[in-house]
Amino acid sequence: MNRHLGPFEADRIYQGDALELMAGIPAGSVDLIVTDPPFAIEFRAQRMNYNRTGRHVLDGYREVAADDYAEFTRAWMGEAYRVLSGSGSLYVFSGWNRLKDVLCSLDDAGFITLNHIIWKYQFGVFTRKKYVTSHYHILYAVKNRQKYTFNKVDHYPEDVWVINREYWKGKQKTPTKLPRELVRKILRYSSNPGDLVLDPFLGSGTVAVVSRETGRHFLGFEIVSEYIAFAEQRLHDTGLRMAKETSAEGEI
Ligand SMILES: C[S@@+](CC[C@H](N)C(=O)[O-])C[C@H]1O[C@@H](n2cnc3c(N)ncnc32)[C@H](O)[C@@H]1O
Repeated sequence: MNRHLGPFEADRIYQGDALELMAGIPAGSVDLIVTDPPFAIEFRAQRMNYNRTGRHVLDGYREVAADDYAEFTRAWMGEAYRVLSGSGSLYVFSGWNRLKDVLCSLDDAGFITLNHIIWKYQFGVFTRKKYVTSHYHILYAVKNRQKYTFNKVDHYPEDVWVINREYWKGKQKTPTKLPRELVRKILRYSSNPGDLVLDPFLGSGTVAVVSRETGRHFLGFEIVSEYIAFAEQRLHDTGLRMAKETSAEGEI
């Protein structure tokens, strides 16, 4: 891809603080941002939610203190608005507890929120005296209401998505991995092959992996070096699998 990305190259992931790294991306150079930022919640329960035993979970997940969350969100959201192209879109994940900070930051940055999607997944944390949380919010926002990519894949695209989490039985994993099916759906609707997708809080690399699988370019940032290594390995494995599939097709 020959788009100018400042100090960055497309299809690479970089270690560091998203806020500092985003400042290096030239304005208007990204087509789609899909991101699942840290949530500012006590993480032990969350960790159990993602992985029943916690045994195979990589350590080091970087949280943001609850008191700092509004400012943190406002800061990265402002950068997201700046780096996104005029016809670009943003999908941001949020738990219910800090949702107000995300909604206010979207407005403050200048985004137009088009949908408030509910992602319903298959299990939550066991509770005794309240309902089990088994959904996330996904805010879908654009810069220009008249001009943005929306490939209407389904005839009747509803805003409640029931998509199961992936079980990675016995394998090492990061605690908050998104299902690929979910990211694939977002990429199909809101980008085209060749577009550039940014995830500034990459975690285990799901957005980068699905971008590669679907012919999109990507740029990813993550602060924890163990997660970078994990994501690099996933990308490498994805490349090998895709090459194998292509050569098998050639043999038919
Ligand atoms: C909810 S997870 C993302 C999970 C990812 N979507 C996946 O599928 O694996 C949020 C990630 O943001 C990272 N993080 C936290 N603060 C950060 C910062 N200031 N800059 C970059 N990454 C950060 C955390 O270490 C964590 O891996």
